[in-house]
Amino acid sequence: MSGSTEPGSVVAQLVETMRTLAGAHPGFRPVHAKGIVCAGAFRASPQARRVSRAPHLQGALVPAVIRFANASGNPEVHDGLPGVRSLSVKFQLADGKSADVLANSIEGFVARTPEDFLEFLRAQLPDPVTGRPVPDAVPRFLGSHPIARAFVERLMKKPVPASYAQASYHAEHAFRFTAADGTSRFGRYHFVPEAGEAFLSPEDGGKRSPNFLRDELDGRLRRGPAVFRLQLQLAEASDPTDDASALWPADRARVELGRLEVTGISPTGPADERRLVFDPTNRTDGIDLSTDPILLARSAAYSISYNHRSKGE
Ligand code: HEM
Repeated sequence: MSGSTEPGSVVAQLVETMRTLAGAHPGFRPVHAKGIVCAGAFRASPQARRVSRAPHLQGALVPAVIRFANASGNPEVHDGLPGVRSLSVKFQLADGKSADVLANSIEGFVARTPEDFLEFLRAQLPDPVTGRPVPDAVPRFLGSHPIARAFVERLMKKPVPASYAQASYHAEHAFRFTAADGTSRFGRYHFVPEAGEAFLSPEDGGKRSPNFLRDELDGRLRRGPAVFRLQLQLAEASDPTDDASALWPADRARVELGRLEVTGISPTGPADERRLVFDPTNRTDGIDLSTDPILLARSAAYSISYNHRSKGE
């Protein structure tokens, strides 16, 4: 169901290619390497329980572990470089289990299938002879893959967030939500910042200090929590539920699922951050996976990756 971890499988090749592109950074994630772990809490709104019987959507205050990150595989990447940022949330449930939501600062994924994603990553590999990037490989890929080209164009409209707390984050895949009365519907998660969105140009981003996103978040949280509204965009019959690269119309109804408050940076060392693992398929009763091939490939990829980094590879 969740993709194969076997050596040589597409998923194994994806992780290997990510690790090659990132370069040697033992113990770090091969993507989303530079992160910051925070503590917070989520409270569901009264509407949420009409959509799902999941325990964290019933209205009680649920503690959460939150990780913001830059999608690059370089743990030292300059915060001002254009690229995707992320927000991962681990809802800590009363029974000791957890449910995860992983979200990126751009709506829609770059590829429809794991195979296409692998081709996109491979276009970024250096030439094995010269060790330098192949100059026309990425433009050629984008020229023949309109989905990826549209993704890059969207990204460059919002290239550098001014704050981790001032970007919207999207979990991309559709999940199926089932309420206590048995009614089911597909929806997509979006985290919307209460402080509003704010972006920098690549030029202005480059002038900031290399860790300005961490510094900014630290200062902001000393003054009060950073708040995100968690919304569920509901699918209509014509909306694809198995294609993370296809955006649904922006005017689709959205249910307010609740409020996430990020309250402080956790005093976590690198070892704590290494132990932490988010997985988009880690969910509870009341939330089911869709048949999106990218979603179904991810759990195996995260497990291979965790296996490497937990061994300090
Ligand atoms: C086949 C497609 C994908 C592959 C192979 C893949 C692979 C990976 C890997 C290997 C990691 C590091 C995991 C770890 O070591 O713990 C990771 C992290 C992450 N990925 Fe993906 N990914 C894919 C699609 C996506 C999509 C569609 C999203 C959109 C939300 C996404 C969001 C994230 C986030 C937010 C993290 C960081 C999690 C954290 O903070 O620990 N990924 N991904």
